Amino acid sequence: MAAAEDIAPEEKVALLEPHSNHDTQSASPRRRRPHAAHAALLAVFLLGVALLALGVWGTYASSPRGPSLPRELQRTPHTHFALDGLRGQPPQTRSHAFVVSEVEGAPDGVRKPMLVVNGMYPGPTIEANQGDRVVVKVTNMLENRTTIHWHGLFQNGTNYYDGTAAITECGIPPGQTLVYNFTLGEFSGTTWWHAHYSTQYTDGITGALVVHPTDPLPASIPPWDGDLVVQVSDLYHTFSPVLLERFLSPWGIDGVPGDEPVPDAGTLNGLGQWAGHGDYFNFTLEANKTYRLRVVNTGSFASVRFSVDRHVLRVVEADGTLVEPHDVSGVTLAVGQRYSVLLRTDNATGGPFWMRATLQKHMFRYDLPGQNRDIRGVIRYGPAADTTALPAETDDPGVRSHPGLADADDRQLVPALFNTAPERTRSYPLRVSLQLHDSLVMLGFLNTTSWEPLRGTTTLLRVREAFRAGGVYGGGDGGSLQDGEQFVLTEDSIQVVDLVIDNIDDGDHPFHLHGHRPWIVGSGVGRYIGQPLNATNPLRRDTVLVRAYSWMVLRFVTDNPGLWAFHCHLAWHMAAGMLMQVNSLPTRAAQLDIPQTIVDQCQVDVGGAGARR
Ligand code: C2O
Ligand code: CU
Repeated sequence: MAAAEDIAPEEKVALLEPHSNHDTQSASPRRRRPHAAHAALLAVFLLGVALLALGVWGTYASSPRGPSLPRELQRTPHTHFALDGLRGQPPQTRSHAFVVSEVEGAPDGVRKPMLVVNGMYPGPTIEANQGDRVVVKVTNMLENRTTIHWHGLFQNGTNYYDGTAAITECGIPPGQTLVYNFTLGEFSGTTWWHAHYSTQYTDGITGALVVHPTDPLPASIPPWDGDLVVQVSDLYHTFSPVLLERFLSPWGIDGVPGDEPVPDAGTLNGLGQWAGHGDYFNFTLEANKTYRLRVVNTGSFASVRFSVDRHVLRVVEADGTLVEPHDVSGVTLAVGQRYSVLLRTDNATGGPFWMRATLQKHMFRYDLPGQNRDIRGVIRYGPAADTTALPAETDDPGVRSHPGLADADDRQLVPALFNTAPERTRSYPLRVSLQLHDSLVMLGFLNTTSWEPLRGTTTLLRVREAFRAGGVYGGGDGGSLQDGEQFVLTEDSIQVVDLVIDNIDDGDHPFHLHGHRPWIVGSGVGRYIGQPLNATNPLRRDTVLVRAYSWMVLRFVTDNPGLWAFHCHLAWHMAAGMLMQVNSLPTRAAQLDIPQTIVDQCQVDVGGAGARR
């Protein structure tokens, strides 16, 4: 049953209201700044600049008296994008302190409210080795709850630290702290972390996460000299709760229900350009070296094509899966996806070259005046690095290394470590759609369910309650529970599950499965009607693009106890309920040692906000 039917009329209205970051009724002591205070804002800005100049900012993160909140976005230090090579160090604990707060920022020169970690966008990069322990103390200085999710990590034995609102935790209440504490197991490669609470990450709570493998690399992967992180994203000038309200409304954002908010611009490592404003992110590199660029789409809606003028990109990784090196002109990443590409700094003259992050427009349903889809950054090296002016920024689509070299197509990527998927033991059909529900609200569906977050509890806590009452949440083996707004697939034994996805919608959906890296055993246009599947060394990745009117079959093993979200990663679609859960081994998940803080934080009354999507 769909969400809007079972909720009280007052809540139906609430569903259409903006989220309460801007709720003046909020009981939270931290009120939003009054709108009219432009002069005050200017003063704050000037003060910020002055403080920055004095270097006072540097003490922010380590202040013993707790965080003093920045009001202005800070420039993310360059060290967060050029990794320091801790690969090969003995296993150790990597500790971080994250303070989540609201600031004013202007990544492309246009001021907007942002939600960020440690005052920066993107937030800190986490770099570690497999086998390390990661401890992140997250303090929430927002007026709403928040969570941090570690995209792509398996969290084997620590499902409760997956950071998924209403599924593995209720969200950190305003003013409170949660310490995420987990070891890095099976996952290695390039990934990211982000808020997993409504559309909060759209406004800036994102950062990179790189895990170096302990195993030696497969022979086919060439060595490289340095690691660089490139985070590309779309950018909205309007605060996301405002856009979400319009998207969910029966009138739609542009008069057509279901049309997604179209971004104004984009960013490359936090910097973008709009109408002649903004700045270019810059890498100054050594000549005649090989760099591994770890490209991540941390955006909310647009797929992004990444390329570097006059340079070949050699793809070696997709979402943590090492692949046979494959030379391309560019890579296009759907939201949530990652590619590693090797780039040689051996252009004869060197010089400044454009890095390009081009927003793909085929999902954009309306024209947005002034929109900039052509986001740039700069790579410099060699004798011409600083002496040569940047090439003029024209509308040209980029200068290819070789005229004939094509872009990456993930159907051509072959895992470098040969791997065959096991035979399936279960199969579940899933139908993906977006529908205007009861003429009231736009909802995303998987089969007949549109997800609505639980309030005051989580699915994982329900699993534990059911176990303590002598039962199994979701009914045990092979259970497919569509209980109200919770669509849960349950396997209480280790099974090989195929998710058979039919996208009957006219848009593409980048689906992401938490806690696993599924095999893509088949995909094609139209509906799935028994086409042959391929289990022999198929690509494995945690975020897959299911194209409009197409099918895809994902295979995974239910050997990781806990509740794992499976959802479209487009922020608007997830917030409209396009999410279901895999309930793996509930009898074991019920006995996980859920930290008392997580249980207690569910009991906190945050006022009107509740556990939004
Ligand atoms: Cu990148 Cu459900 O998350
Ligand atoms: Cu979607």
